[in-house]
Amino acid sequence: MAEIAIIGATGMVGRQMLESLESSSCRVDRLYLYASKRSEGVTMTFRGTTVTVRALSESSIEPSIDYALFSAGGETARAYAHIMRKHNIVMIDNSSAWRMDPEVPLIVPEVNKAHYRGEPLIANPNCSTIQAVVPLYVIGRLFGLKRVAYTTYQSVSGSGRKGIDALDNPSPEKGHISDNVIPQIDVFETDGYTKEEHKMIHETRKILLDESLPVTATCVRVPVSNAHAVAINVTTKTPVDIEVLKRHLNHQPGIILTDTIEDLTPKAARDQDAIIVGRIRPDESLENTIHLWTVADNLRKGAATNAVQILKTIMEGQT
Ligand code: A2P
Repeated sequence: MAEIAIIGATGMVGRQMLESLESSSCRVDRLYLYASKRSEGVTMTFRGTTVTVRALSESSIEPSIDYALFSAGGETARAYAHIMRKHNIVMIDNSSAWRMDPEVPLIVPEVNKAHYRGEPLIANPNCSTIQAVVPLYVIGRLFGLKRVAYTTYQSVSGSGRKGIDALDNPSPEKGHISDNVIPQIDVFETDGYTKEEHKMIHETRKILLDESLPVTATCVRVPVSNAHAVAINVTTKTPVDIEVLKRHLNHQPGIILTDTIEDLTPKAARDQDAIIVGRIRPDESLENTIHLWTVADNLRKGAATNAVQILKTIMEGQT
């Protein structure tokens, strides 16, 4: 038996979790959907059956649930972690609340599923970080990583429904994303970096198991509805043979390698699970350094698909 819950099922990521779970090979004997009080009674369909959304509260949690996919923000994830643990429910959380906790594995299955050792809570990494670490993992395995610099071009769906709303209905109160580019995602920290940039830096090190890896980032919001792009500049320990790298990227599950520009855009990445990689070229300004470009659907591989892949990995490990 496998009883599964989606917490935040009515949100952008939650809806995609439902779809990704539906199309996955995961066994689901019973599905529970939760959201805030205002969504109570809303119905959604899963594999041909109608499921009614419940209002999340401590008493509405069914203790028979085995696994819960959370995408209801950091506050809810922090508040409910101990309740999940009390009922022995394995929690996979998409928020940033638990990602850097040393007891919590931060998993991208193609890269570090071996870091999961039966913990009750697993964190799903930051969307831009997920699409960057898969190619970086391949580069690191072949040539060793010495330094990583990210510049992101992140779509508005990364900030949930309010992001899409601000793009579709521009107004002074909702910010200025329409016809614009904003070099700030999440709040500023005291060192002049944003919290989003810190997430990319620290999560990259944790996933790649290299706490001393120099990583830097500039995270930028662009007026694109969905799918992020990340430009990566990477310095390696040994010289990169680009043909060898391309051969390995071509064989890497989860990556599509292409030189066709139309395929390297958010529009092309949308509605698919793959990370699309291209524009690989030497950076002639620095020894052993290359540039690459990645695009991925941030609601899918950057969030829901990765969470469902974590679930699948755990379920397979337990059968
Ligand atoms: P609701 O739709 O009822 O507001 P998004 O980030 O796309 O806005 O989605 C957030 C998701 O998290 C939604 O499903 C939202 O439910 C849910 N959510 C927000 N706050 C809570 C809460 N306190 N308890 C349960 N679910 C919540």
